[in-house]
Amino acid sequence: MKKLIIANWKMELSHDQACSWLESDLPDVQKTLSETPHSLVICPSYTVIPYAISLYPDNLWGAQDCGFKERGPYTGDVSVLSLNDLSLAYCLVGHSERRRFHGETDKRVAQKVELLLKHTITPVVCIGETAEQKNQRSEVLKKQLSALLPLYAQYQAQPVIAYEPVWSIGTGIIPSSDELKAAVIVIKELCDPLKPLILYGGSVEEKTVQEFSSLVDGFLIGSASLDPGRLKKIIISC
Ligand code: PGA
Repeated sequence: MKKLIIANWKMELSHDQACSWLESDLPDVQKTLSETPHSLVICPSYTVIPYAISLYPDNLWGAQDCGFKERGPYTGDVSVLSLNDLSLAYCLVGHSERRRFHGETDKRVAQKVELLLKHTITPVVCIGETAEQKNQRSEVLKKQLSALLPLYAQYQAQPVIAYEPVWSIGTGIIPSSDELKAAVIVIKELCDPLKPLILYGGSVEEKTVQEFSSLVDGFLIGSASLDPGRLKKIIISC
């Protein structure tokens, strides 16, 4: 079945490193991808995106975040208007690193989702519980999603939700299949009657993908997506 694979490069590569990755490794990754039904979205740093698009206009590109207003005195923010000018297809929103290190609230996430939907850029909304919240997973997911659901109804858009347990990101620890199944059920129930596309993220590697592929519609990949060899293995295993 066709999967949506999203590579989140975070702030791991310098501009030059990311550009050389794209120049030397993306053709090979694309060749592997072309032998599968899957789609690959790469989310590099903002500075890389225009060059990436000029090199590979047919690839799918995404941003890692966006501003919560369309324009104005918001130093450091990048507007959805600029993402739209670049014809970006996707934008991550509410990643736990944004929530943790930049104080991003559910309200702020909802403001970004609304702007993205308005400009027909697909928000990939990241949600998930921390280790301490493991016993309240349903409540946490509900709180993170509740302000967003009316927006999807209003814009008649399909939610794309990345379930990323915070305790799994960058730790090598992954949920059991039963835990993931339970989270997927909660997300589907919360979104009903909308039919969300649900991705899994958190320490994704080849073997995670083999185990989880039948449970989700795709994967959000951090560190393994920086290694072209690992990324190709993940694509093949989906
Ligand atoms: P990881 O990151 O694959 O390195 O755990 C995932 C993410 O933060 O989206």
